[in-house]
Order: sequence, then C-alpha cells, then structure tokens
Amino acid sequence: MVNFVWKTSVIFLILISLSGCNEDFWLNYQLSKEIAKHNFTGDPAEGRTLPHISEPLPQLGKALFFSKALGGDKDTACVSCHYPTLGGADGLALPIGVGAEEPDVLGPGRRHSSSSEHYDGGPTVPRNSPTVFNMGLWDRSIFHDGRIESLFPVPGQNGAIGGIATPDVSLGMADPDAGINLTVAQTRFPVTSKEEMRGFEFESDGTNADVRNHLANRLQGASGFEHELDENRWLDEFRDVFNQPDTDAESLITYGNIALALGEYERSMVFTNTPWKQYVQGDMAALSKNAKKGALLFFNEPQQGGAGCVNCHSGDNFTDEDFHVIAMPQIGRGKEDSTMDQGRWYVTGADNDRYAFRTPSLLNVTKTSPWGHAGAYSSLKQVILHHANPQQAITQFNYSELDQDIQASMLLTNTRPALKQLQTLRSEGQSKLPRISLSDKEVLLLIAFVESLTDPCVEDRECLSPWIATGNGPDGLTLHAINKNGDPL
Ligand code: HEC
Ligand code: HEC
Repeated sequence: MVNFVWKTSVIFLILISLSGCNEDFWLNYQLSKEIAKHNFTGDPAEGRTLPHISEPLPQLGKALFFSKALGGDKDTACVSCHYPTLGGADGLALPIGVGAEEPDVLGPGRRHSSSSEHYDGGPTVPRNSPTVFNMGLWDRSIFHDGRIESLFPVPGQNGAIGGIATPDVSLGMADPDAGINLTVAQTRFPVTSKEEMRGFEFESDGTNADVRNHLANRLQGASGFEHELDENRWLDEFRDVFNQPDTDAESLITYGNIALALGEYERSMVFTNTPWKQYVQGDMAALSKNAKKGALLFFNEPQQGGAGCVNCHSGDNFTDEDFHVIAMPQIGRGKEDSTMDQGRWYVTGADNDRYAFRTPSLLNVTKTSPWGHAGAYSSLKQVILHHANPQQAITQFNYSELDQDIQASMLLTNTRPALKQLQTLRSEGQSKLPRISLSDKEVLLLIAFVESLTDPCVEDRECLSPWIATGNGPDGLTLHAINKNGDPL
C-alpha cells in the first residue's frame, strides 16, 4: 500500500513537472526533501522548558533589565543596548554604554558625551550588540567569541548541564558561580565592563566580584550604601517573587539572584513564530515563491547551484554555534588595546581561531541592522555579497553606509589579516565558506528567505509590550527609551 502511494505520487510529480504548470508545487516538493534531510521542526523552542513573561521571576528580571541602578554611575541599564523594539539590540553599528549625552536616547542618535572618559567622537564599545531574543535557544556558547561556554553541551538544555566556563575562571574550567544556564551566566558580565555599564570611577580598582557585590549592596540598601538610591522597594519585590517574606535583604538580594531574574526575563523572550515555521509545519502558503527559491539556494550546496548557507547557519535556530573566519569588516575601537578584534582567538589562543566569530542565528535577523560583529554592514544585500566574495566586498566597501562618527580609517588595514587567515584556512581545507558567485536576482531570493525567518511579533510594539517596563520601577531609575527626537520608542 505504502509502495503504491509512493509510486503514484512520483508519477504525479513527474506529470506536474513535465507540464511545467505548477512551479509552486515543484518548489514545495524540493523543499520537503530539504526539510526531511535537515530534520527541521520549524521551531527551535520546541521541547525546551522556557519561562513565560507573566511569571514572577521574568517580571522581576524585566524591572532589573530596565533599571539604571545596575550601571555603576546609574546612567546605563541592560536595555540601553538591548531594547525590545530595536530587535533586542540597539540599532547601532557599535554601542555607546556609559557616558551617553542623553542616557535615555536609544538607537540612531545616541552619542557619547564629549565630557566623558575616553571620548573620541565615536562609539565606545568594540562589538555590535547582538539580540537578547531567543537566548534560551543557545546550547553551546554566548557572545561573538563564545567566552561563556557550556563544558558539556546537550541539545535543548541552554547549557544547564555539566558546568559553564566564563571569563572569571581559567580556560576550560567551570565557573562555580555561573548559575543555572548560559543565559544566567552571561548576565554577570555586562555590569563589570567599564564601557558598557560600570563606568570608569565605580569600584575602579575592584574585581568583578567587588563590582557585583557593590551593586547588590546598593539594591539591598545595606549599611553604608543606603544613600545610593533615592527610592528603594527592591526588598519587597524580591521577597514577593522568591516567596520569602521574612528573609533579609542581604540573603535575598544577591547578585546571583539578580542574575537569575535577568536571565529568566531574557529566556522568556521567545520569538520563533515565523512564516518559515508555519511553512515547515504545513502551511504551504506561508512563504512566497521567491522565499521558497531563496530557501533552496540557502540549503543547496554550491555544486548543486546553491549557496551553501546551511553549512554554518544550520538547524532550527540557523546556527551551528561554531566559530568561522569570514572576514567581516573591522571597524571601531577594537579589543584589548588595539584597533583589531581577533575574536575567538582571545578565548582559546589557538592559531586557527584568529578572527573567527560565532555564527549568528538568523531568526529575526532582519530587525538587527547593522550586521556583523562590528556592525559594518547596514544592508542585507552587502552582508550576503560579503559571504560570496569577502575580498571583493572589503575592497569595494561603501563607507557612506557608516555613521560618520565611527572609527573606520583602519578598516582595510585591520580586515586584511582576517582575509589572509581565511585564505590560509581555505588552502588547508579548513574553511566552510564556499566560493560562490551570486546574481542580483539570487541575492534578492536569499533575502526573501531570510525575511521569512522573522517573527511578526518583533515588528509590533503592542505585541512586545509585555517585555517593556512601564512606571518608575522599584527605584525610580527605570529607563524610558526615547529616540533622538524625544519620541517614546
Ligand atoms: C553598552 C551596551 C550594552 C549594555 C549596556 C549591555 N550589553 Fe549585552 N551586549 C553588548 C555587546 C556589545 C555584546 C556582544 C559582546 C561580545 O560578544 O563580546 C552583548 C552581548 C550580550 C548577550 C549575548 C548575546 C549572544 O547572542 O551571544 C546577552 C545575552 C546580553 N548582552 C545581555 C545583556 C544584559 C543582561 C545586560 C545587563 C546586565 C547587558 N547585556 C548590557 C552590549 C551591551
Ligand atoms: C562559513 C560559515 C558560514 C556560511 C557558509 C554562511 N555564513 Fe553567514 N555568517 C557566518 C558568521 C561566522 C557570521 C558572523 C561574522 C561576523 O560577525 O564577523 C555570519 C553572519 C551572517 C549574517 C549577519 C548576522 C548578524 O547578526 O550580524 C547574515 C544575514 C548571514 N550570515 C547570512 C548568510 C547567508 C544568507 C549565507 C549563504 C549565502 C551565509 N550566511 C553563509 C558564517 C557563515
């Protein structure tokens, strides 16, 4: 019986394709083979235990995420660089954290104040701010260079099993304070970065632990720290959420609990309800014909006329969570007292890791312009053409795409070593980046497919409103984001 059904469907398909009358049918057939081959479910959140934003812990996390009390000088919050209506990022090539002209201005027009430390007219933070959406879907590593890393990655676990390496411990060691998963572990670090949140005066000689303890003391209103906040209702909040009405502030408002709440807020931001998911789950009309053609290009190998994108952007989250050298343009201040950024090499010290960066997820990627680890590209067309021919894209780089304040005079000098590294890896057969050429039409098809990986919720402020803090919060320091014209974001 199965055999019979199969045979008739094959004959039917041949008839359909010979008649040439139903291209869409043919595209669906081709794609169904890819979907089966890659075991796509369409939904990377499936099977994971992720919190809902209405729960108490994510609600507390939201209040903390929006509070400038976690910035050393009380002028930055997590949300300064990760705002829901800006795709969970900041809409900038490179962020400005502490010392902004107007701390509540987010997105284009956020500027570093000329009276602030290390002012040079350009942005202060060396890497592009990634989205905080879908953080619960990462199983191996966090950050462009993966410096927060699961030592025992298990699919679906967000690093919850077997220890987490962080910059607080030596290479390959488990950080005993990392917390329950990768997302929680990450929230311990932005507050310790001078450019991002800490500022240059706050605990200026302190360790990371000193910074976190000071912030916890501030929220506790501990003895000697009572005057740091004009208003302070954090103890009531923590007691309610942890359901410990009699516990004292010192035991309850620890940085560990702050990290937990921040992480659970981020893990509640699950935006995976994409047209692509609907398509994989059976709605053949959820994708346009162009998006389907783009999908085939994305999945097919170059030998079959495809672009081989799936070699790295694999799985339902469209990332292999691995590190690759693709030589995206290097702009900005750079890392570690140089204007360069050597990416994964800082973590492992392995030569092959120089200039390698983690493959980003492509879910909701249309909302997180500009792109690349230094935010050099502000069009998807340029990003895709770069993958096809990095050398050419760098040589023909269009500087007018960049904000005029950005430090870009070293672009060529600083990107050349990465191009050279790519060449070396290719000659050793160690690069997964195929050499391809793409027509303008093919680039448009790929873009149409990438657009189908965006959840409409992230384009809709109303839909995002459960994740946006309102009111003044427990300390009166809630950041109410505005754009450069003063309008609410
Ligand atoms: C000044 C801007 C800025 C602020 C403020 C900031 N971040 Fe970030 N965030 C970044 C940048 C830049 C990166 C990428 C850094 C890297 O990869 O080296 C990042 C990375 C992340 C990531 C990793 C995403 C991924 O896909 O790997 C998470 C999660 C995150 N930040 C959460 C937070 C939280 C929580 C806070 C507050 C405690 C915060 N951020 C404050 C700029 C900022
Ligand atoms: C060799 C592995 C690899 C292949 C193949 C690959 N990519 Fe990428 N892709 C990456 C890496 C790594 C980055 C990030 C590089 C960086 O930030 O410097 C990236 C970045 C991107 C970005 C920007 C994402 C962001 O958040 O900034 C997009 C969009 C993208 N790739 C789409 C594609 C498409 C479409 C294809 C097929 C034409 C493709 N990629 C093929 C590894 C790959």
